[in-house]
Amino acid sequence: MIIAVDGPAASGKGTIARALARHYGLPHLDTGLIYRAVGASVLREEGDPASEGDALAGCSFDDFLLEDPWLKSEEVGKAASIVSAHPLVRKALLLRQKKFAAQPGGAVLDGRDIGTVIAPEAEVKLYVKATPMIRAQRRQLEQRKGGVFESLDKVLADIRARDERDTKRAEAPLRPADDAVTLDTSFLSIEAAVQKAVGIVEAAKAKA
Ligand code: DC
Repeated sequence: MIIAVDGPAASGKGTIARALARHYGLPHLDTGLIYRAVGASVLREEGDPASEGDALAGCSFDDFLLEDPWLKSEEVGKAASIVSAHPLVRKALLLRQKKFAAQPGGAVLDGRDIGTVIAPEAEVKLYVKATPMIRAQRRQLEQRKGGVFESLDKVLADIRARDERDTKRAEAPLRPADDAVTLDTSFLSIEAAVQKAVGIVEAAKAKA
């Protein structure tokens, strides 16, 4: 069983994907982390994320970079969003993600284009969303725990800018797959959101 979980930044897709992976005993891939590693490599080499050449060079990052806490920063998130708009970058990272999805026994992947590009054959497709304000509040809380203090206005503006880039790019833009089930987590606790997600998976399994 392949479970595809897509959605915008801070929608709760990562939390839900991890919980589903645990629940069903499946391996999980956070594909955003791969784009973040590319963005971080470019920044570390003092390159320009908007340059396709620099971004492509960043695709040959060392896997240990995936463990670096710096990847979680807004600075790297923004660079990830910029490098991810380059078609050649998406192409360079495609096989790794497709292979993960196709492993025997199944997998859970979360990102922006899992249900549409990486695993259109997925048995279950979830599109996780929440209002920009709620996502900004969650992101701000997360940042505070990490000792970063930004105004809600700034966090909200960053979220909106990221949505704009991720949904408007020409190549594999963020959008729900035609057969995705949308889960709005705006007014749900983590537990309630996970419970709903499990319900959606169970319903899809029953139909299969
Ligand atoms: O999910 P995240 O915030 O860690 O993702 C960082 C950026 O990476 C996101 O803004 C766009 C890009 N991304 C993508 O283009 N496709 C994916 N499947 C996952 C992430």
